[in-house]
Amino acid sequence: MDPQTAAALSEPSAWALLQSLPEYDEGSALVLGTRLRADGHDPTLVAALLTQSRLRARGRVKFGDRVDRMLLTPDGVEQATRWQLAQRHAARFAAAGVETVWDLGCGLGGDALALSAAGLAVEAVDADPGTAALAAVNLRDAAATRVRCARLEDLDLRAEAGAPGTRTAAWLDPARRTPGQTDHRGRTRRTFSLDSLSPTWEQVQGVAAELGTVGAKLSPGFPHDAVPAGAEAQWSSFGGEALECVVWWGDLTRHPGRTAQVHTGPADSGQWLEVRDEDGDDWAGPVPTATSPDELGEWLYEPDRAVLQAGLTGVLTRLVGGTETAQGAGYVTGPREIEVPWARRFRVLSVHPLSTKPLRRWAREADVGRLTIKKRGVPIDPDRLRRDLRLTGTREAVVVLTPLAGRPVLLEVEPAG
Ligand SMILES: C[S@@+](CC[C@H](N)C(=O)[O-])C[C@H]1O[C@@H](n2cnc3c(N)ncnc32)[C@H](O)[C@@H]1O
Repeated sequence: MDPQTAAALSEPSAWALLQSLPEYDEGSALVLGTRLRADGHDPTLVAALLTQSRLRARGRVKFGDRVDRMLLTPDGVEQATRWQLAQRHAARFAAAGVETVWDLGCGLGGDALALSAAGLAVEAVDADPGTAALAAVNLRDAAATRVRCARLEDLDLRAEAGAPGTRTAAWLDPARRTPGQTDHRGRTRRTFSLDSLSPTWEQVQGVAAELGTVGAKLSPGFPHDAVPAGAEAQWSSFGGEALECVVWWGDLTRHPGRTAQVHTGPADSGQWLEVRDEDGDDWAGPVPTATSPDELGEWLYEPDRAVLQAGLTGVLTRLVGGTETAQGAGYVTGPREIEVPWARRFRVLSVHPLSTKPLRRWAREADVGRLTIKKRGVPIDPDRLRRDLRLTGTREAVVVLTPLAGRPVLLEVEPAG
């Protein structure tokens, strides 16, 4: 959005009109637009208002009811940090004794809002004039917060933020996009390469070297070998989805190396579980892996995605006294039922080689008519497998396809709990 549209939308009369609109509904948007134009409102403004109304419906997932005081862009909403995670980031800065955070690439201001709410002063900066204008609107009621349009590379951080140790820190959430490339829905394509971040990974590390106390939000695909020495890389999941990896430097580091945090329970009242390897440096070591099909135990465990991405499957093998079904498979087999709050567990009912004829026989004898298929590390099309098995039975089976000691197998399982 250009700064002029942002200014037009924040005019008191346009703002009041936006606040008066009903919850966005695709079916009635056309009629609403016609009525607003018939009431004498400028067609360009009406289009911008309806876009905002639509984006607020989408942004509610990220920002909660704060969205009703915000102006948004499609990319801004998509890239913004989910409020519950922004709060976690802010809490870490506050707990480290930080007083001021430079939010270098603040976007619509999702993280900046949470930092301010945690009692921190915020210097929010964004290179894009339209985005900075929207951030200024979104952060207008945030305490001790300033917004400006500037490029990180044009700031003299040392001069402005002071020397390391002045209780000033930085937060970076680089745009993970490839400008100019759009997907089939016309949205800018997401990129997971460290080379195509903006600000760049090099710039992020430069800020870390300059200020010392820095957090940077990166993709959950952040490569393990890029974790800077002495820093903590923490992978997070929310609602079962791995959303980010944040690298923490300096006083913001709690456990150097790779850690994970997992949100469980309802979005607003659930709890965060932290997962890390208690053996310190051992996290880099190999995870015990099944070397023979005989090692398949009665229980199968599937760690949360953040734990998987963090490469902490070894914590699970230790907790349950088991082995990974194959290197990198992400399923752990063990002899006992042990409740691990960040892993799903299944009782293994039977195991079969992944071969059509014996599987057809199994499906027929076991009266299987429907298959719920979970799989990892086995390049097979689930629909094709269902077709090949010619299922005619009456019951539903849950199966896991995974390599086991070098061979792809089908495990019939029963989810626990
Ligand atoms: C992923 S968004 C930030 C989202 C934000 N943390 C939130 O939760 O709403 C990244 C932002 O960085 C800005 N940006 C990219 N390169 C920049 C640079 N070199 N200097 C300053 N801002 C930059 C982009 O304009 C974009 O708005």
